[in-house]
Amino acid sequence: MSLTVALSKGKLLRGTRELFRRAGLPFPDGKSRRLVVSEGDLRFLFVKDMDVPTYVEYGVADCGIAGRDVLLEVGSDVLEPLDLGFGHCRLQVARPAGSDFSPDGASTVRVASKYARVAAEHFLGRGLSVEVVKLAGSVEIAPGLGLADCIVDVVETGRTLKENGLEVIETVAESSARLVVNRASFHARREEVARLVDTLGRALP
Ligand code: PRP
Repeated sequence: MSLTVALSKGKLLRGTRELFRRAGLPFPDGKSRRLVVSEGDLRFLFVKDMDVPTYVEYGVADCGIAGRDVLLEVGSDVLEPLDLGFGHCRLQVARPAGSDFSPDGASTVRVASKYARVAAEHFLGRGLSVEVVKLAGSVEIAPGLGLADCIVDVVETGRTLKENGLEVIETVAESSARLVVNRASFHARREEVARLVDTLGRALP
């Protein structure tokens, strides 16, 4: 039986394809809209980035590739044997540029984010009261429209923040793409998983 690999349809897809090609591993050509694709001796599931750890934790996929940002947010019980060295970004707190908003000066920090858990833990961890407004995307518009004081979001180039009039005030975490493995597969399918980890590991930049 082939290994099943859960992959994000989002930003990590390009880096993942490049890594698999460098490693000489099979990878779908991307022409099809099918979300479950077998290629060589691997089976690929293409899912939303936040769902990758869930497919792996539940054992539907033996392994997957997810950003550390997503792993921190979802908090799944999975093994994380490799930092794949691409998809670098930061989870950061941003406020309207030039504003004097400070989390430490607020009675309650109202923060908009796709990363509700990360955002809550970041402020609660230093004893602040926090109200998280959970959004599915485009969080950069929330402070300017009065929905929140600040945001916690992924920043890669910083262009989205800048073009939407925001500035970074704190960094929550650094992120990059990680290989994650289901705990049971790691033992029950030890040889196949070890071969995949080795092959990918040798192809890292
Ligand atoms: C992410 C993130 C920012 C943007 C940051 O969104 O939420 O909006 O990328 O990138 P930058 O710093 O290079 O401008 P994504 O494209 O994943 O879309 P989403 O908001 O729909 O999740």
